[in-house]
Amino acid sequence: GWKMEDVMDEEIKVINSTLAPDDHVICALSGGVDSTVAATLVHKAIGDRLHCVFVDNGLLRYKERERVMETFESDLHLPVTCVDASDQFLSKLKGVVDPEMKRKIIGKEFICIFDAFAQELEQKLGKKPAFLVQGTLYPDVIESCPPPGSGRTHSHTIKSHHNVGGLPKDMKLKLIEPLKLLFKDEVRQLGKILKVPEPFLKRHPFPGPGLAVRVLGDVTEGNALDIVRQVDEIFIQSIKDAGIYDSIWQAFAVFLPVKSVGVQGDQRTHSYVVTLRAVTSQDGMTADWYCFESSFLKDVSQKICNNVRGVNRVTLDITSKPPSTIEWE
Ligand code: XMP
Repeated sequence: GWKMEDVMDEEIKVINSTLAPDDHVICALSGGVDSTVAATLVHKAIGDRLHCVFVDNGLLRYKERERVMETFESDLHLPVTCVDASDQFLSKLKGVVDPEMKRKIIGKEFICIFDAFAQELEQKLGKKPAFLVQGTLYPDVIESCPPPGSGRTHSHTIKSHHNVGGLPKDMKLKLIEPLKLLFKDEVRQLGKILKVPEPFLKRHPFPGPGLAVRVLGDVTEGNALDIVRQVDEIFIQSIKDAGIYDSIWQAFAVFLPVKSVGVQGDQRTHSYVVTLRAVTSQDGMTADWYCFESSFLKDVSQKICNNVRGVNRVTLDITSKPPSTIEWE
């Protein structure tokens, strides 16, 4: 292990020697740990010559935008523009049921918005931003050959790289990747030194395409997004209350476009089925389903059916990866 204070000082030096004093830098914040720590580090080095953008694609979790913007602004004082592009994303996704199509559309839309952000910034500054910050980690960079002099060997597991969809190739931005020699646990240590709040550093991973991979089929169908948000919030809050959040790699709810018959009060209902998924994992490449206590499951199921309109059946996903993936799409 390296001392993270030294890594931080070294990275700040590198950033300052790479950039000219009037170079501006842009960064897309996803709300995840990596992009947040990378941006916070660059901000410490160059201050408000950093310009971040956070895109609300309409596929975020319950109050996610408010929660991450609060951390960016109040805790980290990052210069962030929040773009509400929900309508734009959702109208492009209307009627689309193929999982790969959904991902492609989201990736493409994201690039459009990022492009527009960069162009607006260029008009404001009177010059093009020169660099782009990315929260790339060591396992993303390395296939077989560690960077010379990095002191890293390749004994660690390699994680495949899925990002928010890639960024415009014709933008001609040079990259700043201040985390590219670090592993996830080291990024968390660095984040701690940079005063990123502890609960934020411990958040479960969330996929770039967001709830689109957790609402099976057409995401714009009925109030599917709203239902999955409410169920997910109840599930995660119950996990936190039970004190088991940090023992789980990822936990979430999935909306199934399936209705089943139920009885609530003395009414027959014909409502949606949701499923809950929680897994343990080292790196997301393989995973085991998490075994909850039966009392926990009983409570959470009851809470969901009592509080979320349109749901009358809760199921639990008890499949490991492989053969399943962690996400449902
Ligand atoms: P799967 O579903 O492939 O997921 O077993 C493995 C891990 O990767 C996350 N994931 C993604 N993250 N963009 C991301 O940024 C994506 O398109 C994407 N797909 C899956 C998933 O949440 C899990 O942690």
